[in-house]
Parts: sequence; structure tokens; C-alpha cells
Amino acid sequence: MKIIETVCAVREQVKAWHKAGYRVGLVPTMGYLHEGHQSLIARACAENDKVVVSVFVNPTQFGPNEDLGSYPRDLARDAALCESTGASIIFHPTPEEMYPSGYSTFVDMEGMTQTLCGKSRPTHFRGVCTVVSKLFHIVQPDTAYFGEKDAQQLAVIRRMVQDLNMDITIVGCPIVREPNGLAKSSRNTYLSETERQAALVLSQSIFAGKAMVEAGETDAGALVDAMRHKIEAEPLARIDYVQVVDQQTMQPIEKLDRPFLAAIAVYIGKTRLIDNFMGQGSASQ
Ligand code: PAF
Repeated sequence: MKIIETVCAVREQVKAWHKAGYRVGLVPTMGYLHEGHQSLIARACAENDKVVVSVFVNPTQFGPNEDLGSYPRDLARDAALCESTGASIIFHPTPEEMYPSGYSTFVDMEGMTQTLCGKSRPTHFRGVCTVVSKLFHIVQPDTAYFGEKDAQQLAVIRRMVQDLNMDITIVGCPIVREPNGLAKSSRNTYLSETERQAALVLSQSIFAGKAMVEAGETDAGALVDAMRHKIEAEPLARIDYVQVVDQQTMQPIEKLDRPFLAAIAVYIGKTRLIDNFMGQGSASQ
């Protein structure tokens, strides 16, 4: 497995693969890979002849007071995980390679990027859409793989691909959890032992919400109240949002009468964590 740092070199390689008739999969990441990323890479390897994993901590998706500087990085460990899972290439550009001096073009989206995470991180999805569309142009994959933990990001990317007529199949992969329920995240590394324990309140509220829906709850407000209540019982937790939205538009709904996303963002100490579950809803509501 090769680690490639330039746009030019990754393009050459992928061009040769396409010429040879290979299917190419892309797994965009910011590195510090865990079992969640590994599940995406494994799926990409099962469905494609060649797989590119991009490892790039994208500065444009971090707000001014966010954790760009402290975001965890370990390329050697990432390379070992990618190689053992079967990836063909890591694309690891420098920030200057992706955003050279004079860089001025951004991909922005209205509406669905302004709720949930977009409300507390107003420039986040502009950065995500920009870097992901650049990666799509550079790698030109047949298929790209994203985790359902970032459910809003996945919905935004599906929308961008449709709106901009990008000929790429987007595959969403299920959340991977630790045995205690905590959703895998590179940011879990920020948590102290006490905070790790406290962070279990996220998955506990998700599981409780899911159980309510399975038991027949159809009122989004009741679901939100119950999930909030559970989180508020944890002294180290501070809620950013608990919301139920339409799975496609990311706009709040009152009744679970269509495919929905129940999403939460919670600070545990200084660390902001997200989790969610999705449901089909019932048209008869
Ligand atoms: O989900 C992530 O890790 C990032 O938002 C992504 C999609 C790699 C873009 O930088």
C-alpha cells in the first residue's frame, strides 16, 4: 500500500486503474482511524477492485474556536490499519496541496446545512462540501463510503451529489459502537476515564429513544423530552441539541410519520459528541 501526498500522483494512479477497468472506491477520513472507519474501508474493499482512503484533517470545516490544532493524528497507525484491511492507497495531502495560496472556491448548501450541527457549527458543512467535492474530483471514485454516525453529513453529501450531477454512488454504513454502547469516534480520545463513563449517557438516551419508538411512540416531542431527560440526569453532560428531523431534509418534524433521524449532540466536559438513530416512521400517523 502506498501513501501519496500529491493530487497529481493520486490522479495518475486512479487514471491507470480506470483504464484497466477497475472499480475504485473512496473512503474520505480525517485520520486517527478506528473500527468505524475500518468498517467503511472493509465494505469498500469488498465492493471495489481498488480503494483509496483519504486522510486529511480539513481546516475549512473547523470553526475558529474548534479543535483543528488538537485533532488527533497518527499516520503510521492509520497506514497499518488501512494496509491490514486491504486499502490500495492512502491519499494524505498537506493543507497547502488542497488549499494553495489564492484558493477562493467553496461549495455551499442552503437549508439542510443550517439545522442540527449546522446551527452550532455554521461554517462546518461548507468546509465538508468543499473538501468532499474536491476529493471526488481528484479521485473520481465509482463509489464513496461514509458513516451513519455523521447522519447529517451523509444526507448533505447525498444532496450535493444529486444537485451537482456527480456520477458517484454514495454508501452509508452503520454506526460502530464499543461493547458498552459508546459510538466510535476519533474525538473519544479527548475523554478522561470519568468522562468516558459519563459519555455513555449518549448511547443510553439513543437506546431509550429507539425502545420508545419500537413500543409505538409516534410523537417527536415526547421522544425528544424523554431523551433530553435522560441526558440531563448526567452532571457532566451539556446538551447542544436533541432533535427529531425528516431524514432527507433535516428539518424538524412533530410526528414520526415519515423516515426520520433522531439526533443528539452533547458536550461531555469540553468534548462535543454526537449520536443518532433512524427510523422509517409510519405514514398512518
Ligand atoms: O467525516 C469526516 O471525517 C469528514 O467530515 C470528511 C467527510 C472526511 C471530510 O473532511
